[in-house]
Amino acid sequence: MASLPEEAIINKESVSLLLDCYNTPNTIPLAFSFEPLPIFDRSFTMQNHSIDGRSLYALNGYFTEKEGKELRAFSKEASFSQKIFGNHESEQSGEIPAKMMNGKERWQFFERPPSAIHSLFRLFGYLSNKMDVKITTLPWCLSDQKTTSTCLATNFLNENSKMSETHGKHQDYNPENGLAFTIPCLYGSEENIYHSHFSNGGVGKPLIMTVMVYATADNFLPEYGMGTFFYHHDGKEIKIDCRHMQMVFFEGDIWHAIEESRIPEGIKTWRVSYVFKIIFNPKRSDQDLRQSLFHEIKNLEIST
Ligand SMILES: [Fe+2]
Repeated sequence: MASLPEEAIINKESVSLLLDCYNTPNTIPLAFSFEPLPIFDRSFTMQNHSIDGRSLYALNGYFTEKEGKELRAFSKEASFSQKIFGNHESEQSGEIPAKMMNGKERWQFFERPPSAIHSLFRLFGYLSNKMDVKITTLPWCLSDQKTTSTCLATNFLNENSKMSETHGKHQDYNPENGLAFTIPCLYGSEENIYHSHFSNGGVGKPLIMTVMVYATADNFLPEYGMGTFFYHHDGKEIKIDCRHMQMVFFEGDIWHAIEESRIPEGIKTWRVSYVFKIIFNPKRSDQDLRQSLFHEIKNLEIST
């Protein structure tokens, strides 16, 4: 009997750009797809929220203790050699800047990921199999003259000011504003790519999600802040605490920001988020991927 793969298999694909402004030397028009994985043995506890009809899941207990220890040790030692300020005012006020991996560090991280991240890739493979969708990352790097967006982002923080929380509100990706790159349509239709503006996760449409994993120092506590605020249209917010090895799935067009820190005097600590932007691409015109993702996540939930 042929054995079934248990490891994540990732393929490289090239992406075509739809907007000329991204035709710059820093753009890397590559994406990665996760092959369907039939075997799976993990579960988690789930907290789910709906934000104006969009989904948000906070999942705990998915990673093993060993993976958690390894990611903590990795995060402590890894180089995040690019500095970023939430905004000009935080730089002026002397805030410690956030750090992120540069292009080379990011590439090495993706090529030889810590075991927890490999387990996350296995989850993508499993969801691809169960939901009968193709899962790919967004393009590796899209860069115009002013901005850069990457499918893998890292954000290492020692602190975060109220100002950075307020000014940092953003959406990761909103296909209603049009697409910067081609997403192939996998079922028979007149057009073979999605290039009109579409509502994220509508029936028969791709669902663009952000998946984030937190790692923290061993002295970090959720009450020190630096979790994530997610915002409804009416301004009402939902806060997800920063907890070591918590995984958060959310739709790319939900507005969000990093919560300010509240770290007691004399305590030095850190937290990092590893962020992946992925596309669930339907294979049939009648697939409702928002529903289907909820169903599969619910199936993996540990019943308490
Ligand atoms: Fe974000």
